[in-house]
Amino acid sequence: MKSTLIHAARTFFRIQEARFKVASQHSQRVAFHALMLAKELGMSGKEQKHIYLAGLLHDIGKLGIPDSYLFKACKLTEEEWQEIKKHPVFSYEILSTIPEMKNISVIALYHHERYDGKGYPEGLRGEAIPLGARLLAVVDSFDAMTSYRFYRPQISFQMAIEELCRCAGTQFDPRIVEAFCCLWKRKDMSKSCHFESALRTFIGNGLISKR
Ligand SMILES: [Fe+2]
Repeated sequence: MKSTLIHAARTFFRIQEARFKVASQHSQRVAFHALMLAKELGMSGKEQKHIYLAGLLHDIGKLGIPDSYLFKACKLTEEEWQEIKKHPVFSYEILSTIPEMKNISVIALYHHERYDGKGYPEGLRGEAIPLGARLLAVVDSFDAMTSYRFYRPQISFQMAIEELCRCAGTQFDPRIVEAFCCLWKRKDMSKSCHFESALRTFIGNGLISKR
């Protein structure tokens, strides 16, 4: 029998997928990379599961942001940008309605914090930011840089790795960037399309359907 956690995660993921087709592919890549990185860092099986689900659902709060802001082709106004920056709080408010998703909601809340304290929503610094959120920040940024976005060019994997290294200690936790680079050098990340395999290993079948 599947747990409340898995049922709730599947429901939330389906809602997100119905609304944001392309973004849900981004979320699946982020989730898998986050899982690999959590393993690399020696996190527990329970923590790995939470990290994976936070990777899938961290941006669900974008459901509360108008399309005209999310998909605007030109530069956002300051007011529009301030609205978009509310999405981690919305993610937290949605996910924390399920008691079993408390840890996942906290990771989602802080996934745009920066190691140097210049992130949002609270401007937390260093290890005051939950480890899962520091980890997610690295893989989320890596996937954003290497994916096509209509408002900026896509860059190569190698360039994205160099950018992560450049920002280690400022935007990102340097220990997590180092672990990510080790994984990348070993090419473990090249298996990143095996989402179903990850689910079977860590979560169980049925969260994401085969299509
Ligand atoms: Fe986000």
